Amino acid sequence: MIKYIQKTPTADEFNCLTNSVGWGVREKSIVNKALNNTLFSLCVYDDENLIGYGRIIGDETIFLYIHDVMVVPKYQHKQIGTTIMKLLLNQIDEYKKVNPSIRTYLGASKGKEGFYEKFGFISRPNDDLGAGMILY
Ligand SMILES: CC(C)(COP(=O)(O)OP(=O)(O)OC[C@H]1O[C@@H](n2cnc3c(N)ncnc32)[C@H](O)[C@@H]1OP(=O)(O)O)[C@@H](O)C(=O)NCCC(=O)NCCS
Repeated sequence: MIKYIQKTPTADEFNCLTNSVGWGVREKSIVNKALNNTLFSLCVYDDENLIGYGRIIGDETIFLYIHDVMVVPKYQHKQIGTTIMKLLLNQIDEYKKVNPSIRTYLGASKGKEGFYEKFGFISRPNDDLGAGMILY
């Protein structure tokens, strides 16, 4: 049975998931620090197996970032990614109660822009905003 649970996954679970979507694995200490510095962590389990995940990082008032949204390939195209996003956005509505102008960012993987557009995210640059930039 598929369950959506707010909890921090173990580093092994997280690495297994990132590996399944082609993002590789990181040292456990790095993963644990990242996950412990997360505001809201959403796990999707099928029985005991972590098969989906998404998290929110940020300061809860001015800046939020949705990161690491992923679903194990075998479970993709079953609306699990959509449900993860809906639950993350529900949580963002909670932060909006403190500051309605809170900004939520994300970086879409190449080709995944359409998935996020369904939830109202727009690509930059546009008439109002400059490009989202990244330091390599
Ligand atoms: C992106 C991801 C989380 C989507 O998860 P999912 O469970 O397959 O998504 P859903 O089943 O809820 O998708 C529902 C619908 O969203 C739309 N959608 C999904 N990916 C899309 C894309 N790249 N472009 C446009 N629409 C898309 C489709 O209409 C899709 O329906 P379909 O699966 O029947 O085609 C999943 O593909 C994934 O884990 N990919 C690898 C990791 C990744 O790239 N994550 C994004 C990080 S920015």
